Amino acid sequence: MGGRKRRRGEKMSSSPHRPSWPRRLVPAAMIVGLAAVGAAVATTPPAIEPPPSATPRPPETVYKQTCGYCHGANVGPVIRGRGLEPDAIKYMVRHGLNGMPAFRPTEISDAELAAVAEWIKASKADPKEHGR
Ligand code: HEC
Repeated sequence: MGGRKRRRGEKMSSSPHRPSWPRRLVPAAMIVGLAAVGAAVATTPPAIEPPPSATPRPPETVYKQTCGYCHGANVGPVIRGRGLEPDAIKYMVRHGLNGMPAFRPTEISDAELAAVAEWIKASKADPKEHGR
């Protein structure tokens, strides 16, 4: 029984009419498949830094990462502990002024900006910070 099956298989694989192209196509398809996997991995955004709109960063983080770089570091005026109006802060961040850069929603989302503006208004002055 088993012997008959094996013989039939041998006859098929040794047939002279068997086209040779599938043997060459298989590795090509594998390369294309691997390239697609590579591209998918490459375009996946890194998990550590999601776009601002996806996961709003806490206001402390936005301030530390973006604003504190200048404010409180002698590049810009101290803005904490002054009760600055959130609307004025938001306008300043979106429009900029002289040395104050404007930030786009792709850099600081509307939600993050609203939160950081409220946080700055409510925050106490940090004695370690100094204005320009
Ligand atoms: C590259 C440095 C820099 C960064 C980063 C920066 N600022 Fe400024 N900012 C300045 C400077 C310089 C001024 C003063 C502009 C002027 O009056 O000529 C200023 C002014 C301001 C003012 C007005 C202060 C006042 O006394 O009226 C606010 C509010 C402000 N910035 C908020 C922010 C916030 C919020 C962020 C973070 C999202 C930020 N800034 C990031 C440099 C910076």
